[in-house]
Amino acid sequence: MKISIIGTGYVGLVTGTCLAEVGNDVVCLDLDERKIGMLKQGQIPIYEPGLEDMVQRNQAAGRLRFTTDVAESAAHGVIQFVAVGTPPDEDGSADLQYVVAAARAIGQNMNEYKVIVDKSTVPVGTADRVRAAVQEELQKRGSKLDFSVVSNPEFLKEGAAVEDFMRPDRIVVGTDNAKATDLMRALYAPFQRNHERLIVMDIKSAELTKYAANAMLATRISFMNELANLAEILGADIEHVRHGIGSDPRIGYHFLYPGCGYGGSCFPKDVQALQRTARANGVELQVLKAVEDANDEQKHILLKKITQKFGSDLSGKRIALWGLAFKPNTDDMREAPSRVLIEGLWKMGATVSAYDPAAMEETHRIYGDDPRLKLVDSPAAALADADALAIVTEWKEFRAPDFGVIKSNLKTPVIFDGRNLYEPKMVREQGLEYFPIGRL
Ligand SMILES: NC(=O)c1ccc[n+]([C@@H]2O[C@H](COP(=O)([O-])OP(=O)(O)OC[C@H]3O[C@@H](n4cnc5c(N)ncnc54)[C@H](O)[C@@H]3O)[C@@H](O)[C@H]2O)c1
Repeated sequence: MKISIIGTGYVGLVTGTCLAEVGNDVVCLDLDERKIGMLKQGQIPIYEPGLEDMVQRNQAAGRLRFTTDVAESAAHGVIQFVAVGTPPDEDGSADLQYVVAAARAIGQNMNEYKVIVDKSTVPVGTADRVRAAVQEELQKRGSKLDFSVVSNPEFLKEGAAVEDFMRPDRIVVGTDNAKATDLMRALYAPFQRNHERLIVMDIKSAELTKYAANAMLATRISFMNELANLAEILGADIEHVRHGIGSDPRIGYHFLYPGCGYGGSCFPKDVQALQRTARANGVELQVLKAVEDANDEQKHILLKKITQKFGSDLSGKRIALWGLAFKPNTDDMREAPSRVLIEGLWKMGATVSAYDPAAMEETHRIYGDDPRLKLVDSPAAALADADALAIVTEWKEFRAPDFGVIKSNLKTPVIFDGRNLYEPKMVREQGLEYFPIGRL
């Protein structure tokens, strides 16, 4: 099948590449010339395990092309995926300008029947806006071409995106048109050979499903973070509590890890956007407001623990940071808790030396050559001259460090662990002070 992907970011690039992998003929469009230039050279602009090889293989096989030419992309695919960004507007609602611009570009350039698929996370009612934008552009051209709009939200996780796309738990398709449904079914057939994973529903329900999923996951995290903070005060261990409740099949173990707050390009903005949608319809989502407030507060938990230990004047202190990305296996720094910690430490007068296996370039892009932030190329280098260590991202390579090295390098042998990576007793036996989240 001929497919076009509009917006070649995390979602667009993974979607396009995986669809090419199963034999489709894919054109990926982006307006960012630097991005497309890199991709044409076989380099990928993001860190995503397994993706670069797949891009190169499918490009070499002629099934995957990259372009900045809007007309080319609009003409190519019978299915046009819209995978552009939907960042938060000033008031927290989803900014749809890129989605609408992509829709207009399709309307201006399409030459035959198209299925326009909203893959971006978009508020309920966006499919109608997309339909209206395409219709308006067709009318301007005096064209009567037919098209359908489908909602097909994406559930992939950065860091496991290829695997998630190739072996999805479910594929949600919101549609009101039989021809479009058949095309979507045919497109996704190779990804569900084992059993049917396509869940077909009306468009609005599909749009809401994506927000509901992210809001539920964010809720579990904030719930556990609040309980962890309480456990600390009560003298209970949140790890035991996590086991105790996760073993209940009605609850399950996923997304019950307390930490220093959720970040990333999805949860914060989607939790906000869903509240805005509700408010615009006269409804207050009280649970989600609390989820967001609890998370904003949790992002300060490490700074709070650091100032409890060292006092609120941190001038002259240097804190080593392990982990910058909002989660492991990605270089994504959007809304990352590390940013709140870095900026908080600066405010208190401290400097930071930081290491992340993937997000160093992205961090440099954000903070430039700020002298208060030293980016180093190994976990050990971050410890040099540091007063304490703070762990912000649970990368695998931080899981079994040499505690002797940590102890001998730090001026004060103390670890603030925002991801509960270690057994407290074991760390303390090595002569280090240890401050995890909600653990004894
Ligand atoms: N990142 C994730 O893990 C994830 C997961 C599920 C859903 N989503 C959703 O998918 C959407 C895309 O997210 P992302 O992380 O891939 O964003 P991104 O910022 O990485 O990529 C978006 C791309 O779209 C391009 N673009 C913008 N306007 C364009 C236009 N008119 N024509 C062509 N290209 C255009 C941008 O240059 C950018 O490269 C968002 O709505 C997001 O909420 C993201």
